[in-house]
Amino acid sequence: MKKPILTVKNLTTPLQIGDEVYSVVEDLSFDLHLGKTLAIVGESGCGKTMAALSIMRILSEPPCLAPQGEVVYKGQNLLTLSEKKMRAIRGGRIAMIFQDPTTALNPVYTIGAQLMEMAELHLGLYGEEAKERAVKALKEVNILSPEERLYDYPYQLSGGMRQRVMIAMALMCEPDILIADEPTTALDVTIQAQVLELIRELQSKKGMALLLITHDMGIVAEMADEVIVMYTSQAMERGSVHEIFDAMAHPYTMGLFASRPSSRRERGKLTPIKGTVPPLNQYPQGCRFNTRCPYVMELCMEGEVPDSVVGESQKHLAKCWLCEGVE
Ligand SMILES: Nc1ncnc2c1ncn2[C@@H]1O[C@H](COP(=O)(O)OP(=O)(O)OP(=O)(O)O)[C@@H](O)[C@H]1O
Ligand SMILES: [Mg+2]
Repeated sequence: MKKPILTVKNLTTPLQIGDEVYSVVEDLSFDLHLGKTLAIVGESGCGKTMAALSIMRILSEPPCLAPQGEVVYKGQNLLTLSEKKMRAIRGGRIAMIFQDPTTALNPVYTIGAQLMEMAELHLGLYGEEAKERAVKALKEVNILSPEERLYDYPYQLSGGMRQRVMIAMALMCEPDILIADEPTTALDVTIQAQVLELIRELQSKKGMALLLITHDMGIVAEMADEVIVMYTSQAMERGSVHEIFDAMAHPYTMGLFASRPSSRRERGKLTPIKGTVPPLNQYPQGCRFNTRCPYVMELCMEGEVPDSVVGESQKHLAKCWLCEGVE
């Protein structure tokens, strides 16, 4: 396989509450490749957004402290880069879209003004040239009559249209990497499918790497090449999408799969994982899933759980004692 465009190594993000420091992201490692999609999947509160914000260096500090580890993009560790250099990368080479486009679009400026500002800031285009670039960006995300839409304010657009504008803005500078944090969670199912299809189309056209954050195993199956299943700040299982779906090894992954929202139609087969994600200050000793795991054993109650190799590829790993020595 080609060299990765981004390598995240042992990323750990501390967060301080009072006198205590917790890890919202712990020892996370992965590679992103151009043209490929890595999905990070997990329930609410497990650290997915924090991982993305750490990579982009847009955490609120405090309560977060500086992330540890390495985020290597084109030979440079983004975590130690000057803020000035980071600003050029952010939005230019690595772009991010969020769950709720209203937080990223400014309500008091027209769509056109915001797109043209991007073109000015990152591409050095002004006036008519910036306008033309803005129209082109809207066309790319299949917005009809883009010349007219330039004069709309965000509130005049539907949720799906707003998300398209966000994508247009994110892709304006042809980034190498797009980080999409639950890009369709706020949309209804039909629009969700359209927006995901659009992201997939644009990814293959532009050849960028996609880091897709979701809590929906159905979306993972449709979109991902590689998968990281995250729980309580840690990667619980990782592997190719085939390894994860054909031979899922961690009880947490199995629980997520059985409770996947996209299978709601298969009524009666849904089995939610019992209990809830513990908050940062209540992670249990031993395996962090031990309070909810149907297969919990004595061994799971204390000490670190190692990553066990599950499959032949040596790249399918699960943080579970059940997988130790299974290979
Ligand atoms: N400002 C804060 N103060 C205290 N805890 C915080 C703060 N911000 C985030 N956290 C905690 O960090 C953890 C990870 O949060 P994060 O937003 O990354 O979760 P997530 O996986 O993206 O969830 P969701 O699917 O709901 O978006 C959670 O336990 C959350 O409560
Ligand atoms: Mg989140």
